[in-house]
Amino acid sequence: MAQFQAVKGARDIFPEEIVKWHYIEGVIRSVTALYGFSEIRTPVFEYTELFQRGIGSTTDIVGKEMFSFLPDPQGRSITLRPEMTAGVMRACLQKNLLSSAPVHKLYYISELFRKERPQAGRQRQFSQFGAELLGVSSPAAVAEVLTIMMHVFETLGLHGLRLRINTLGDIEDRERYREALRSYFLPYAGDLDDSSKERLEKNPLRILDSKNPALKEMISGAPRLYDYLKAEAVADFEKVLSFLSDRGIAYDIDHLLVRGLDYYCHAAFEVTSSELGAQDAIGGGGRYDGLAREFGSPVDLPAAGFAVGMERLLITMEKQGLFAAINPHGPLVYVVLQQQDLADHGMQIAFRLRKAGLRTEIDLAGRSMKAQMREANRVRAGYALFVGQSEFESGQYTLKNLMTSEQTSLTLEAVVEILREPSQREMLKP
Ligand code: HAM
Repeated sequence: MAQFQAVKGARDIFPEEIVKWHYIEGVIRSVTALYGFSEIRTPVFEYTELFQRGIGSTTDIVGKEMFSFLPDPQGRSITLRPEMTAGVMRACLQKNLLSSAPVHKLYYISELFRKERPQAGRQRQFSQFGAELLGVSSPAAVAEVLTIMMHVFETLGLHGLRLRINTLGDIEDRERYREALRSYFLPYAGDLDDSSKERLEKNPLRILDSKNPALKEMISGAPRLYDYLKAEAVADFEKVLSFLSDRGIAYDIDHLLVRGLDYYCHAAFEVTSSELGAQDAIGGGGRYDGLAREFGSPVDLPAAGFAVGMERLLITMEKQGLFAAINPHGPLVYVVLQQQDLADHGMQIAFRLRKAGLRTEIDLAGRSMKAQMREANRVRAGYALFVGQSEFESGQYTLKNLMTSEQTSLTLEAVVEILREPSQREMLKP
C-alpha cells in the first residue's frame, strides 16, 4: 500500500525549522508591542458570505480560490479563511468594540487557506502575520501599519525589499475611473486574454494587475487613477508619502498597483522581495474604510492594515543567511556520561538543571561517549557536562565550553549560576 503523503500545497514543519518560526514570531510580538498592538485570534472558518462581501465576489480569491463547504445539508456554506481582515472586522463589529474604545490595534499570526496552484512560495495552507488598526481614518493610520511592517523587516535584518505604493481614492473616484478604464479597453477587447476579458466586464481595475507580457503596452497607455482623484484624496496620499519620508522608509509610487482584494480605498501598498521568483510579494495592505459598512455596521469604522506571508518571509531570510546566528533557546547543556552505570545519576543531574531553567539533553540510549559528543554537536549544545566516577564522588563536575574548548570543574550550583549569566550566553556556539 502506498504511504500517505501530506495534501498537495500543505507542508510539515519539523523542529529544525520551527526554531526559525519561533524566532520570527518573537520579533513580531515585541515590535507590535512597541506600537501598542495586542493579539487577536479568530475562527479558522467563517460564513462564506463574509468573504464574498468583504473581499469582493469578482476577485480571484472569492471566484476560484476558496475552500467552501456545507457543514450539514441544511447549513449555510462556510469557508476556510483565505485572509484575516474580514474575520477580524467581523469579530470587532460582533463584539461592538467601538463602544468600549474608539481605536483598536490588533495583530495576528495565523493559518490561511487558498485553492491556488501550489509552487515555490505559494501554498494552499500558508501563514500570515499582520496588523489591523481600527477606528482611525487617516494617512497617519496607514503610515503607522506600514511602519510596523517595515520595522519588523528591519529588525529581522532583511534587505533589498521594494515597497510600492499607490492610492485608490474613494468609492466615487474609483467608480469614475472604472468607467474610464472600461471605455479605454473596450476597443481592444478582441486582443485581451480570457481572464482580462472577464475582468473588463466585472472589474476592469484588475486588468492593470495582469502579468501577461502581451498586454503590457496596452496597459501602460491606460488612463491613470491618479488623474481621477479628488483634491482631498491627492492631499491624503501625499501626507502618507511624507510620513514615510520622515521615517526614512523608501518607496516607489506605482500607479498600476491595485491589489487583489476589493475592500481597499486610498493608500494601498505591496512589498516585494527579489529573492522570491515568480511569487515575489512578501506582504501588502492598505486602508479599508468601507468594509465595516459593507458588513452591515450602522456606523463607520475606518481601518488600515497589512499582512505578510510567513513562508515567503522565511524563504527570503534563508536566502539572505539571516538565521545563521540564531540560538533562540539560550544555552544548551549536554550531560555526557563517562560510564553507563552512572546513567541514573546523570538523569538526576539533567532533571536538576532543567528544574533550574537550563535546557539540558542527555543520552537515553546507552551510547558510547564518542557518540554522545557527536550528538552534543549535532544538537548544537553550547556546553558538555561530564559525569564520571570522580565527579560522582566529589560533587565537582567538568563543564566544557564547546565553542572555546575551555574546561572548568564546578559544583552543580555553580554551573547553574554561570550558565544563567547573560554575559555567558554570548559565548554560546551559534
Ligand atoms: P494578500 O496580498 O492577499 O493580502 O496577502 C498578503 C501576503 O500573504 C502576500 O503578500 C503573500 O506574502 C502571502 N500569501 C498570499 N497568498 C499566499 C499563498 N497561497 N501562499 C503563500 N503565501 C501567500 C491580504 O491577505 C490582506 N488581508 C492584507 C491586509 C490586511 N490588508 C489590510 N489588512
